[in-house]
Amino acid sequence: MKRFQKWLSVLLIMILATSVPISLTQASAASQKLVAITFDDGPSGYTPKLLDGLKARGAKATFFCVGTNASAHADTLKRMVNEGHQIANHTYSHPQLTKLGASEIQNELSKCRKYLVSAAGEQTFCLRPPYGSYNNTVKQTANCPLILWSVDTLDWKSRNADSVYNVITRETKDGSIILLHDLYSTSVTAALRAIDTLQQQGYEFVTVKELFRRRGITLENGKVYSSAYNQGITLPAEDGEAPSVAVQDVWGGKQVTLICKTKGAQIYYTVDGSVPTEKSKKYSGAFIVDKSVSLRAIAVYQNTNSAVLTKSITVSKTAVPQITHQGKTLTLTCATKGAVMYYTTDKTNPTASSKTYTKPFVAQTTTKVLARAKGYADSTACFTFTQYGDLFQDVPEDTWYYKPVGQAVHQKLMKGTAPYVFQPNDSLTRAMFVTILARLADADLSVYKSTAFQDVKAGTWYTAAVAWANQMGYTKGVSETEFSPDESITREQMCTMLYRFLKKQNYAFSKQTTTSFADQAQISPWAKQAVNVLHQDGLINGVGDNRVAPKEISNRASAAKLFISVQNRIQ
Ligand code: NI
Repeated sequence: MKRFQKWLSVLLIMILATSVPISLTQASAASQKLVAITFDDGPSGYTPKLLDGLKARGAKATFFCVGTNASAHADTLKRMVNEGHQIANHTYSHPQLTKLGASEIQNELSKCRKYLVSAAGEQTFCLRPPYGSYNNTVKQTANCPLILWSVDTLDWKSRNADSVYNVITRETKDGSIILLHDLYSTSVTAALRAIDTLQQQGYEFVTVKELFRRRGITLENGKVYSSAYNQGITLPAEDGEAPSVAVQDVWGGKQVTLICKTKGAQIYYTVDGSVPTEKSKKYSGAFIVDKSVSLRAIAVYQNTNSAVLTKSITVSKTAVPQITHQGKTLTLTCATKGAVMYYTTDKTNPTASSKTYTKPFVAQTTTKVLARAKGYADSTACFTFTQYGDLFQDVPEDTWYYKPVGQAVHQKLMKGTAPYVFQPNDSLTRAMFVTILARLADADLSVYKSTAFQDVKAGTWYTAAVAWANQMGYTKGVSETEFSPDESITREQMCTMLYRFLKKQNYAFSKQTTTSFADQAQISPWAKQAVNVLHQDGLINGVGDNRVAPKEISNRASAAKLFISVQNRIQ
Protein backbone atom coordinates (compact mmCIF):
# COMPACT_ATOMS: atom_id res chain seq x y z
CA MET A 1 0.00 0.00 0.00
CA LYS A 2 2.79 2.33 0.88
CA ARG A 3 4.40 1.62 -2.44
CA PHE A 4 1.11 2.07 -4.24
CA GLN A 5 0.65 5.49 -2.67
CA LYS A 6 4.15 6.50 -3.65
CA TRP A 7 3.36 5.55 -7.21
CA LEU A 8 0.14 7.46 -7.00
CA SER A 9 1.85 10.63 -5.89
CA VAL A 10 4.47 10.19 -8.61
CA LEU A 11 1.68 9.83 -11.14
CA LEU A 12 -0.08 12.92 -9.83
CA ILE A 13 3.16 14.83 -9.90
CA MET A 14 3.60 13.84 -13.53
CA ILE A 15 0.04 14.85 -14.37
CA LEU A 16 -0.06 18.09 -12.43
CA ALA A 17 3.43 19.25 -13.42
CA THR A 18 5.70 21.08 -11.04
CA SER A 19 3.71 23.64 -9.05
CA VAL A 20 1.75 21.46 -6.59
CA PRO A 21 3.53 18.21 -5.80
CA ILE A 22 4.92 19.30 -2.43
CA SER A 23 1.51 20.04 -0.93
CA LEU A 24 0.19 16.80 -2.40
CA THR A 25 2.94 14.77 -0.75
CA GLN A 26 2.27 16.48 2.57
CA ALA A 27 -1.43 15.84 2.29
CA SER A 28 -0.87 12.19 1.61
CA ALA A 29 1.54 12.00 4.56
CA ALA A 30 -0.92 13.69 6.93
CA SER A 31 -3.71 11.30 6.03
CA GLN A 32 -1.44 8.29 6.45
CA LYS A 33 -2.74 5.86 9.05
CA LEU A 34 -0.01 4.43 11.26
CA VAL A 35 0.02 1.49 13.63
CA ALA A 36 2.67 -0.22 15.70
CA ILE A 37 2.31 -3.95 16.20
CA THR A 38 4.35 -5.26 19.12
CA PHE A 39 5.29 -8.73 20.30
CA ASP A 40 6.29 -9.53 23.87
CA ASP A 41 8.10 -12.32 25.69
CA GLY A 42 9.92 -13.84 22.69
CA PRO A 43 11.74 -14.62 20.56
CA SER A 44 10.48 -18.18 20.20
CA GLY A 45 10.51 -20.90 17.58
CA TYR A 46 7.46 -19.22 15.96
CA THR A 47 9.24 -15.89 15.48
CA PRO A 48 11.08 -16.75 12.21
CA LYS A 49 7.75 -17.57 10.54
CA LEU A 50 6.38 -14.26 11.80
CA LEU A 51 9.44 -12.45 10.39
CA ASP A 52 8.90 -14.15 7.02
CA GLY A 53 5.29 -12.91 7.01
CA LEU A 54 6.25 -9.36 8.01
CA LYS A 55 8.89 -9.28 5.30
CA ALA A 56 6.45 -10.45 2.65
CA ARG A 57 4.06 -7.67 3.69
CA GLY A 58 6.65 -4.91 4.08
CA ALA A 59 5.44 -4.48 7.68
CA LYS A 60 7.71 -3.40 10.54
CA ALA A 61 7.15 -4.56 14.11
CA THR A 62 8.60 -4.03 17.57
CA PHE A 63 9.77 -6.92 19.72
CA PHE A 64 9.92 -6.58 23.48
CA CYS A 65 12.21 -9.47 24.23
CA VAL A 66 12.88 -11.24 27.49
CA GLY A 67 16.55 -11.98 28.13
CA THR A 68 16.05 -15.68 28.78
CA ASN A 69 14.59 -16.12 25.27
CA ALA A 70 16.90 -13.60 23.63
CA SER A 71 19.89 -15.63 24.79
CA ALA A 72 18.47 -18.75 23.14
CA HIS A 73 17.53 -17.01 19.87
CA ALA A 74 20.46 -14.68 19.17
CA ASP A 75 20.19 -15.26 15.40
CA THR A 76 16.50 -14.35 15.36
CA LEU A 77 17.32 -11.15 17.24
CA LYS A 78 19.94 -10.24 14.65
CA ARG A 79 17.49 -10.99 11.87
CA MET A 80 14.91 -8.61 13.41
CA VAL A 81 17.50 -5.83 13.39
CA ASN A 82 18.66 -6.61 9.87
CA GLU A 83 15.09 -6.52 8.58
CA GLY A 84 14.36 -3.11 10.09
CA HIS A 85 12.32 -4.13 13.11
CA GLN A 86 12.80 -2.55 16.51
CA ILE A 87 13.97 -4.62 19.45
CA ALA A 88 13.33 -3.51 23.00
CA ASN A 89 13.64 -4.54 26.64
CA HIS A 90 11.08 -6.69 28.45
CA THR A 91 13.47 -7.59 31.35
CA TYR A 92 15.60 -10.68 31.74
CA SER A 93 13.22 -12.99 33.58
CA HIS A 94 9.83 -11.22 33.40
CA PRO A 95 9.27 -10.25 37.05
CA GLN A 96 6.72 -7.73 38.24
CA LEU A 97 9.07 -4.76 38.53
CA THR A 98 6.93 -2.91 41.08
CA LYS A 99 7.84 -5.62 43.60
CA LEU A 100 11.57 -5.05 43.11
CA GLY A 101 14.03 -2.49 44.43
CA ALA A 102 16.02 -0.19 42.16
CA SER A 103 19.12 -2.38 42.03
CA GLU A 104 17.12 -5.51 41.22
CA ILE A 105 15.27 -3.62 38.49
CA GLN A 106 18.59 -2.37 37.17
CA ASN A 107 19.90 -5.92 37.12
CA GLU A 108 16.83 -7.24 35.25
CA LEU A 109 17.13 -4.54 32.60
CA SER A 110 20.88 -4.67 32.04
CA LYS A 111 20.91 -8.47 31.79
CA CYS A 112 18.38 -8.30 28.94
CA ARG A 113 20.01 -5.24 27.40
CA LYS A 114 23.25 -7.17 26.92
CA TYR A 115 21.56 -9.38 24.27
CA LEU A 116 19.88 -6.43 22.60
CA VAL A 117 23.22 -4.64 22.29
CA SER A 118 24.92 -7.63 20.78
CA ALA A 119 22.26 -7.74 18.06
CA ALA A 120 21.72 -4.03 17.44
CA GLY A 121 24.71 -2.22 18.91
CA GLU A 122 24.81 0.41 21.67
CA GLN A 123 21.68 2.57 21.82
CA THR A 124 18.71 3.39 24.07
CA PHE A 125 16.22 0.53 24.13
CA CYS A 126 12.64 1.23 25.15
CA LEU A 127 11.21 -0.78 28.04
CA ARG A 128 7.89 -2.50 28.33
CA PRO A 129 7.53 -3.46 31.98
CA PRO A 130 6.07 -6.98 32.38
CA TYR A 131 2.30 -6.95 33.03
CA GLY A 132 2.44 -3.24 32.19
CA SER A 133 3.09 -2.54 35.84
CA TYR A 134 5.35 0.30 36.87
CA ASN A 135 5.87 2.85 39.60
CA ASN A 136 8.19 5.81 40.10
CA THR A 137 11.15 3.58 40.94
CA VAL A 138 10.66 1.69 37.69
CA LYS A 139 10.38 4.92 35.67
CA GLN A 140 13.45 6.46 37.26
CA THR A 141 15.58 3.32 37.13
CA ALA A 142 14.68 2.41 33.56
CA ASN A 143 16.33 5.54 32.13
CA CYS A 144 14.47 5.01 28.86
CA PRO A 145 10.94 5.54 27.51
CA LEU A 146 8.31 3.07 28.82
CA ILE A 147 6.02 1.73 26.12
CA LEU A 148 2.64 0.17 26.96
CA TRP A 149 -0.20 -0.54 24.50
CA SER A 150 -3.69 0.55 23.53
CA VAL A 151 -4.98 -2.64 21.89
CA ASP A 152 -4.80 -5.67 24.18
CA THR A 153 -5.45 -8.83 22.16
CA LEU A 154 -5.36 -11.18 25.17
CA ASP A 155 -3.76 -13.64 22.79
CA TRP A 156 -2.02 -15.46 25.66
CA LYS A 157 -5.45 -16.18 27.15
CA SER A 158 -7.56 -17.09 24.11
CA ARG A 159 -4.89 -18.81 22.02
CA ASN A 160 -7.45 -18.45 19.26
CA ALA A 161 -6.43 -16.88 15.95
CA ASP A 162 -9.95 -15.73 15.03
CA SER A 163 -10.54 -14.07 18.36
CA VAL A 164 -7.16 -12.29 18.26
CA TYR A 165 -7.78 -11.18 14.67
CA ASN A 166 -11.18 -9.80 15.64
CA VAL A 167 -9.78 -7.75 18.54
CA ILE A 168 -7.08 -6.22 16.34
CA THR A 169 -9.30 -5.32 13.42
CA ARG A 170 -12.07 -4.01 15.68
CA GLU A 171 -9.99 -1.91 18.07
CA THR A 172 -7.11 -0.58 16.00
CA LYS A 173 -7.15 3.18 15.37
CA ASP A 174 -4.67 5.45 13.65
CA GLY A 175 -1.78 5.54 16.13
CA SER A 176 -2.58 2.37 18.11
CA ILE A 177 0.00 0.15 19.72
CA ILE A 178 -1.10 -3.48 19.52
CA LEU A 179 0.03 -6.02 22.11
CA LEU A 180 0.71 -9.62 21.08
CA HIS A 181 3.10 -12.38 22.11
CA ASP A 182 5.28 -14.21 19.61
CA LEU A 183 5.10 -17.32 21.78
CA TYR A 184 2.02 -18.78 20.10
CA SER A 185 1.43 -19.89 16.53
CA THR A 186 -2.18 -18.60 16.85
CA SER A 187 -0.78 -15.11 17.51
CA VAL A 188 1.44 -15.29 14.42
CA THR A 189 -1.47 -16.42 12.23
CA ALA A 190 -3.79 -13.73 13.61
CA ALA A 191 -1.19 -10.96 13.32
CA LEU A 192 -0.44 -11.67 9.65
CA ARG A 193 -4.14 -11.89 8.76
CA ALA A 194 -4.83 -8.63 10.60
CA ILE A 195 -1.92 -6.92 8.84
CA ASP A 196 -3.41 -7.91 5.47
CA THR A 197 -6.76 -6.46 6.45
CA LEU A 198 -5.44 -3.24 7.98
CA GLN A 199 -3.02 -2.62 5.10
CA GLN A 200 -6.00 -2.81 2.76
CA GLN A 201 -7.60 -0.13 4.93
CA GLY A 202 -4.56 2.09 4.42
CA TYR A 203 -2.63 1.34 7.59
CA GLU A 204 1.14 1.41 7.51
CA PHE A 205 2.88 -0.87 10.03
CA VAL A 206 5.80 0.95 11.60
CA THR A 207 8.04 0.40 14.60
CA VAL A 208 7.19 2.11 17.89
CA LYS A 209 10.11 4.49 17.43
CA GLU A 210 8.96 5.43 13.93
CA LEU A 211 5.34 5.79 15.05
CA PHE A 212 6.26 8.48 17.58
CA ARG A 213 8.76 10.18 15.28
CA ARG A 214 6.16 10.55 12.57
CA ARG A 215 3.62 11.86 15.03
CA GLY A 216 6.17 14.53 15.93
CA ILE A 217 6.59 13.15 19.47
CA THR A 218 10.04 12.89 21.00
CA LEU A 219 10.17 9.92 23.36
CA GLU A 220 11.55 10.90 26.76
CA ASN A 221 13.28 8.70 29.30
CA GLY A 222 11.11 7.74 32.27
CA LYS A 223 7.86 8.70 30.52
CA VAL A 224 5.08 6.23 29.74
CA TYR A 225 3.45 5.97 26.31
CA SER A 226 0.65 3.73 25.12
CA SER A 227 -0.42 5.20 21.77
CA ALA A 228 0.33 7.98 19.30
CA TYR A 229 -3.11 8.88 18.00
CA ASN A 230 -3.42 11.24 15.09
CA GLN A 231 -3.48 14.82 16.38
CA GLY A 232 -3.03 16.27 12.92
CA ILE A 233 0.70 15.68 12.60
CA THR A 234 2.09 12.93 10.45
CA LEU A 235 5.62 13.44 9.19
CA PRO A 236 6.59 11.91 5.87
CA ALA A 237 7.93 8.36 5.96
CA GLU A 238 11.58 8.37 5.88
CA ASP A 239 12.74 5.58 3.83
CA GLY A 240 13.52 3.06 6.55
CA GLU A 241 15.21 1.29 3.70
CA ALA A 242 18.82 0.30 4.13
CA PRO A 243 21.39 2.14 2.03
CA SER A 244 22.25 0.49 -1.24
CA VAL A 245 25.71 -0.28 -2.46
CA ALA A 246 27.51 -0.13 -5.81
CA VAL A 247 30.73 -2.07 -6.22
CA GLN A 248 33.09 -1.31 -9.05
CA ASP A 249 36.33 -2.94 -10.14
CA VAL A 250 39.22 -0.51 -9.88
CA TRP A 251 42.98 -0.81 -9.78
CA GLY A 252 44.02 -2.22 -6.41
CA GLY A 253 40.64 -3.70 -5.46
CA LYS A 254 36.96 -2.83 -5.43
CA GLN A 255 35.53 0.62 -5.05
CA VAL A 256 32.54 0.77 -2.75
CA THR A 257 29.91 3.49 -3.12
CA LEU A 258 27.05 3.69 -0.60
CA ILE A 259 23.83 5.37 -1.57
CA CYS A 260 20.88 6.45 0.57
CA LYS A 261 17.64 7.73 -0.92
CA THR A 262 16.75 9.80 2.15
CA LYS A 263 18.12 13.29 1.73
CA GLY A 264 20.17 14.45 4.70
CA ALA A 265 20.63 10.95 6.10
CA GLN A 266 24.08 9.94 7.25
CA ILE A 267 25.46 6.50 6.42
CA TYR A 268 27.56 4.51 8.91
CA TYR A 269 29.31 1.27 8.06
CA THR A 270 31.49 -1.56 9.29
CA VAL A 271 33.60 -4.01 7.30
CA ASP A 272 34.13 -6.63 10.00
CA GLY A 273 30.60 -8.03 9.98
CA SER A 274 29.52 -6.20 13.15
CA VAL A 275 26.24 -4.29 13.32
CA PRO A 276 26.83 -0.63 12.41
CA THR A 277 25.73 2.11 14.81
CA GLU A 278 26.21 5.86 14.89
CA LYS A 279 29.57 5.17 16.48
CA SER A 280 30.74 3.22 13.44
CA LYS A 281 32.73 4.73 10.62
CA LYS A 282 30.90 7.60 8.97
CA TYR A 283 30.64 7.24 5.20
CA SER A 284 32.17 10.24 3.50
CA GLY A 285 32.62 9.04 -0.06
CA ALA A 286 33.59 6.03 -2.17
CA PHE A 287 36.40 3.90 -0.76
CA ILE A 288 38.50 1.03 -2.03
CA VAL A 289 38.77 -2.35 -0.31
CA ASP A 290 41.79 -4.51 -1.09
CA LYS A 291 40.66 -7.64 0.72
CA SER A 292 37.40 -9.53 1.09
CA VAL A 293 35.10 -7.88 3.61
CA SER A 294 31.62 -8.27 5.03
CA LEU A 295 30.17 -4.80 4.56
CA ARG A 296 27.24 -3.64 6.69
CA ALA A 297 25.71 -0.18 6.57
CA ILE A 298 22.82 1.78 7.99
CA ALA A 299 21.36 5.16 7.17
CA VAL A 300 20.51 7.36 10.15
CA TYR A 301 18.00 10.15 9.76
CA GLN A 302 16.56 12.14 12.65
CA ASN A 303 17.80 9.60 15.20
CA THR A 304 16.12 6.73 13.39
CA ASN A 305 18.20 3.87 12.06
CA SER A 306 17.29 2.20 8.80
CA ALA A 307 17.43 -1.53 8.24
CA VAL A 308 20.92 -2.90 7.83
CA LEU A 309 22.52 -3.43 4.44
CA THR A 310 24.67 -6.55 4.40
CA LYS A 311 26.95 -7.31 1.50
CA SER A 312 29.92 -9.61 1.12
CA ILE A 313 32.58 -8.15 -1.12
CA THR A 314 35.10 -10.60 -2.44
CA VAL A 315 38.49 -9.33 -3.48
CA SER A 316 40.97 -11.84 -4.88
CA LYS A 317 44.63 -11.18 -5.13
CA THR A 318 46.18 -10.64 -8.52
CA ALA A 319 48.18 -13.77 -9.37
CA VAL A 320 51.77 -13.55 -8.19
CA PRO A 321 54.02 -12.61 -11.13
CA GLN A 322 55.91 -15.59 -12.52
CA ILE A 323 59.29 -15.54 -14.12
CA THR A 324 61.45 -17.39 -16.60
CA HIS A 325 64.97 -16.41 -17.48
CA GLN A 326 67.72 -16.99 -19.95
CA GLY A 327 70.91 -15.85 -18.34
CA LYS A 328 70.06 -12.47 -16.94
CA THR A 329 67.21 -11.85 -19.35
CA LEU A 330 63.91 -12.10 -17.51
CA THR A 331 60.47 -12.84 -18.92
CA LEU A 332 57.55 -11.98 -16.62
CA THR A 333 54.07 -13.44 -16.79
CA CYS A 334 50.95 -13.02 -14.70
CA ALA A 335 48.04 -15.47 -14.75
CA THR A 336 45.40 -12.84 -13.95
CA LYS A 337 43.65 -11.62 -17.06
CA GLY A 338 44.18 -7.94 -17.75
CA ALA A 339 47.01 -7.66 -15.26
CA VAL A 340 49.64 -4.99 -15.74
CA MET A 341 53.13 -5.43 -14.29
CA TYR A 342 55.48 -2.70 -13.09
CA TYR A 343 59.06 -3.36 -12.06
CA THR A 344 62.20 -1.87 -10.60
CA THR A 345 65.78 -3.08 -10.74
CA ASP A 346 67.16 -0.75 -8.07
CA LYS A 347 65.68 -2.58 -5.01
CA THR A 348 63.01 0.08 -4.49
CA ASN A 349 59.41 -1.07 -4.19
CA PRO A 350 57.60 -0.74 -7.51
CA THR A 351 54.50 1.43 -7.85
CA ALA A 352 52.12 2.15 -10.71
CA SER A 353 54.54 4.86 -11.83
CA SER A 354 57.48 2.44 -12.12
CA LYS A 355 58.52 0.98 -15.45
CA THR A 356 55.69 -0.98 -17.09
CA TYR A 357 56.68 -4.46 -18.21
CA THR A 358 56.22 -4.91 -21.92
CA LYS A 359 58.97 -7.28 -23.02
CA PRO A 360 61.87 -9.37 -21.63
CA PHE A 361 64.63 -7.29 -20.13
CA VAL A 362 68.12 -7.73 -18.73
CA ALA A 363 67.97 -7.78 -14.94
CA GLN A 364 70.29 -6.68 -12.16
CA THR A 365 70.65 -8.78 -9.02
CA THR A 366 67.23 -7.78 -7.69
CA THR A 367 64.04 -7.25 -9.66
CA LYS A 368 60.88 -6.26 -7.82
CA VAL A 369 57.55 -6.65 -9.58
CA LEU A 370 54.10 -5.24 -8.85
CA ALA A 371 51.16 -6.87 -10.62
CA ARG A 372 47.82 -5.07 -10.70
CA ALA A 373 44.47 -5.92 -12.22
CA LYS A 374 41.16 -4.11 -11.96
CA GLY A 375 39.02 -5.55 -9.18
CA TYR A 376 41.94 -7.42 -7.64
CA ALA A 377 44.26 -6.66 -4.76
CA ASP A 378 47.83 -5.89 -5.76
CA SER A 379 50.42 -8.62 -5.72
CA THR A 380 54.17 -8.25 -5.53
CA ALA A 381 57.15 -10.47 -6.12
CA CYS A 382 60.88 -10.08 -5.72
CA PHE A 383 63.33 -12.02 -7.89
CA THR A 384 66.97 -12.19 -6.91
CA PHE A 385 69.96 -13.73 -8.63
CA THR A 386 72.38 -15.33 -6.19
CA GLN A 387 76.05 -14.39 -6.45
CA TYR A 388 76.37 -17.43 -8.75
CA GLY A 389 73.46 -16.57 -11.00
CA ASP A 390 70.77 -18.86 -9.61
CA LEU A 391 67.39 -17.20 -9.40
CA PHE A 392 65.05 -17.23 -6.38
CA GLN A 393 61.98 -15.30 -5.39
CA ASP A 394 62.40 -15.80 -1.66
CA VAL A 395 66.09 -15.14 -1.10
CA PRO A 396 66.35 -11.34 -1.05
CA GLU A 397 69.70 -9.63 -1.40
CA ASP A 398 69.43 -7.82 1.93
CA THR A 399 69.05 -10.94 4.11
CA TRP A 400 71.80 -12.62 6.14
CA TYR A 401 71.21 -15.87 4.27
CA TYR A 402 71.53 -14.45 0.76
CA LYS A 403 75.20 -15.49 0.46
CA PRO A 404 75.13 -18.91 2.23
CA VAL A 405 72.00 -20.01 0.33
CA GLY A 406 73.60 -18.90 -2.95
CA GLN A 407 76.70 -20.88 -2.10
CA ALA A 408 74.84 -23.99 -0.87
CA VAL A 409 72.83 -24.09 -4.08
CA HIS A 410 75.87 -23.45 -6.25
CA GLN A 411 77.82 -26.22 -4.49
CA LYS A 412 74.80 -28.47 -5.10
CA LEU A 413 74.44 -29.16 -1.39
CA MET A 414 70.87 -27.86 -1.40
CA LYS A 415 68.19 -27.31 -4.02
CA GLY A 416 65.10 -25.17 -4.15
CA THR A 417 61.84 -26.80 -3.13
CA ALA A 418 60.18 -25.68 -6.40
CA PRO A 419 61.38 -23.62 -9.37
CA TYR A 420 62.80 -20.34 -8.03
CA VAL A 421 61.63 -21.19 -4.51
CA PHE A 422 64.05 -21.97 -1.68
CA GLN A 423 61.80 -21.63 1.41
CA PRO A 424 64.59 -20.38 3.66
CA ASN A 425 62.34 -20.18 6.71
CA ASP A 426 60.92 -23.67 6.43
CA SER A 427 62.21 -26.07 9.02
CA LEU A 428 64.79 -28.61 8.00
CA THR A 429 63.55 -32.20 8.22
CA ARG A 430 65.67 -35.13 9.23
CA ALA A 431 65.39 -36.50 5.67
CA MET A 432 66.65 -33.21 4.22
CA PHE A 433 69.57 -33.22 6.64
CA VAL A 434 70.92 -36.67 5.72
CA THR A 435 70.39 -35.88 2.03
CA ILE A 436 72.54 -32.76 2.31
CA LEU A 437 75.10 -34.69 4.36
CA ALA A 438 75.33 -37.32 1.61
CA ARG A 439 75.88 -34.60 -0.98
CA LEU A 440 78.56 -33.00 1.22
CA ALA A 441 80.28 -36.40 1.52
CA ASP A 442 79.92 -36.90 -2.23
CA ALA A 443 78.58 -40.36 -1.39
CA ASP A 444 77.73 -42.84 -4.12
CA LEU A 445 74.12 -43.52 -3.22
CA SER A 446 73.35 -45.85 -6.13
CA VAL A 447 74.08 -48.92 -4.01
CA TYR A 448 71.61 -47.96 -1.26
CA LYS A 449 68.11 -49.18 -2.06
CA SER A 450 66.34 -49.70 1.26
CA THR A 451 66.66 -49.30 5.01
CA ALA A 452 65.65 -51.21 8.10
CA PHE A 453 63.49 -48.28 9.27
CA GLN A 454 59.79 -48.98 8.93
CA ASP A 455 59.00 -45.35 8.16
CA VAL A 456 61.51 -45.08 5.30
CA LYS A 457 60.03 -46.93 2.37
CA ALA A 458 62.01 -47.93 -0.69
CA GLY A 459 61.97 -45.48 -3.58
CA THR A 460 61.52 -42.13 -1.83
CA TRP A 461 63.83 -39.21 -2.59
CA TYR A 462 65.60 -39.71 0.74
CA THR A 463 65.70 -43.55 1.05
CA ALA A 464 69.27 -43.91 -0.23
CA ALA A 465 70.60 -41.03 1.87
CA VAL A 466 69.04 -42.43 5.06
CA ALA A 467 70.41 -45.92 4.28
CA TRP A 468 73.86 -44.49 3.63
CA ALA A 469 73.90 -42.36 6.82
CA ASN A 470 72.71 -45.35 8.84
CA GLN A 471 75.30 -47.69 7.38
CA MET A 472 78.07 -45.14 7.94
CA GLY A 473 76.99 -44.88 11.58
CA TYR A 474 76.01 -41.20 11.35
CA THR A 475 72.45 -41.86 12.40
CA LYS A 476 70.79 -44.57 14.40
CA GLY A 477 67.29 -43.31 13.84
CA VAL A 478 64.99 -42.12 16.58
CA SER A 479 64.45 -45.75 17.57
CA GLU A 480 65.56 -49.10 16.24
CA THR A 481 62.69 -49.22 13.80
CA GLU A 482 62.02 -45.56 13.03
CA PHE A 483 63.89 -42.69 11.46
CA SER A 484 61.10 -40.02 11.49
CA PRO A 485 62.15 -38.56 8.11
CA ASP A 486 59.56 -35.76 8.08
CA GLU A 487 60.22 -34.57 11.58
CA SER A 488 62.13 -31.30 11.96
CA ILE A 489 65.66 -31.93 13.04
CA THR A 490 66.70 -30.51 16.40
CA ARG A 491 69.99 -28.72 16.93
CA GLU A 492 71.32 -31.53 19.12
CA GLN A 493 70.39 -34.20 16.54
CA MET A 494 72.14 -32.13 13.89
CA CYS A 495 75.28 -31.78 16.05
CA THR A 496 75.33 -35.51 16.78
CA MET A 497 75.16 -36.58 13.12
CA LEU A 498 77.67 -33.95 12.07
CA TYR A 499 80.04 -34.89 14.90
CA ARG A 500 80.04 -38.56 13.89
CA PHE A 501 80.52 -37.57 10.27
CA LEU A 502 83.43 -35.22 11.00
CA LYS A 503 85.16 -37.78 13.20
CA LYS A 504 85.06 -40.21 10.28
CA GLN A 505 86.65 -37.54 8.09
CA ASN A 506 89.47 -37.36 10.69
CA TYR A 507 88.62 -33.73 11.09
CA ALA A 508 90.77 -32.05 13.76
CA PHE A 509 88.41 -30.26 16.11
CA SER A 510 89.82 -27.05 17.50
CA LYS A 511 89.02 -25.62 20.90
CA GLN A 512 88.36 -21.98 20.21
CA THR A 513 85.90 -21.40 23.01
CA THR A 514 85.22 -22.96 26.37
CA THR A 515 81.81 -24.38 26.88
CA SER A 516 79.43 -23.80 29.73
CA PHE A 517 75.86 -23.23 28.63
CA ALA A 518 73.07 -21.84 30.75
CA ASP A 519 70.88 -24.60 29.29
CA GLN A 520 73.53 -27.34 29.48
CA ALA A 521 71.11 -29.53 31.46
CA GLN A 522 68.65 -29.60 28.58
CA ILE A 523 71.07 -31.38 26.24
CA SER A 524 70.22 -35.08 25.92
CA PRO A 525 72.94 -37.33 27.37
CA TRP A 526 73.69 -38.87 23.95
CA ALA A 527 74.24 -35.43 22.42
CA LYS A 528 76.34 -33.77 25.12
CA GLN A 529 79.74 -34.52 23.67
CA ALA A 530 78.76 -33.64 20.12
CA VAL A 531 77.21 -30.32 21.07
CA ASN A 532 80.15 -29.32 23.24
CA VAL A 533 82.82 -30.30 20.73
CA LEU A 534 81.08 -28.59 17.79
CA HIS A 535 80.50 -25.46 19.80
CA GLN A 536 84.13 -25.33 20.99
CA ASP A 537 85.19 -25.71 17.39
CA GLY A 538 83.01 -22.77 16.42
CA LEU A 539 80.90 -24.76 13.95
CA ILE A 540 77.74 -24.05 15.85
CA ASN A 541 77.02 -20.86 17.70
CA GLY A 542 74.93 -20.23 20.78
CA VAL A 543 71.55 -18.64 20.39
CA GLY A 544 72.20 -15.75 22.79
CA ASP A 545 72.00 -15.54 26.58
CA ASN A 546 74.71 -18.21 26.67
CA ARG A 547 72.17 -20.79 25.48
CA VAL A 548 72.70 -23.53 22.91
CA ALA A 549 68.98 -24.41 22.58
CA PRO A 550 69.52 -28.15 21.95
CA LYS A 551 65.84 -28.92 21.32
CA GLU A 552 65.17 -26.03 18.96
CA ILE A 553 64.75 -26.77 15.29
CA SER A 554 66.73 -25.39 12.45
CA ASN A 555 65.47 -23.75 9.26
CA ARG A 556 66.75 -24.26 5.74
CA ALA A 557 68.61 -20.95 5.69
CA SER A 558 70.56 -21.86 8.85
CA ALA A 559 71.27 -25.29 7.38
CA ALA A 560 72.76 -23.64 4.27
CA LYS A 561 75.09 -21.57 6.46
CA LEU A 562 76.10 -24.58 8.59
CA PHE A 563 76.85 -26.87 5.68
CA ILE A 564 78.88 -24.20 3.90
CA SER A 565 81.06 -23.75 6.99
CA VAL A 566 81.43 -27.52 7.39
CA GLN A 567 82.42 -27.79 3.75
CA ASN A 568 85.00 -25.02 4.17
CA ARG A 569 86.53 -26.83 7.16
CA ILE A 570 86.88 -30.25 5.59
CA GLN A 571 88.25 -29.14 2.24
NI1 NI B 1 5.32 -10.10 29.00
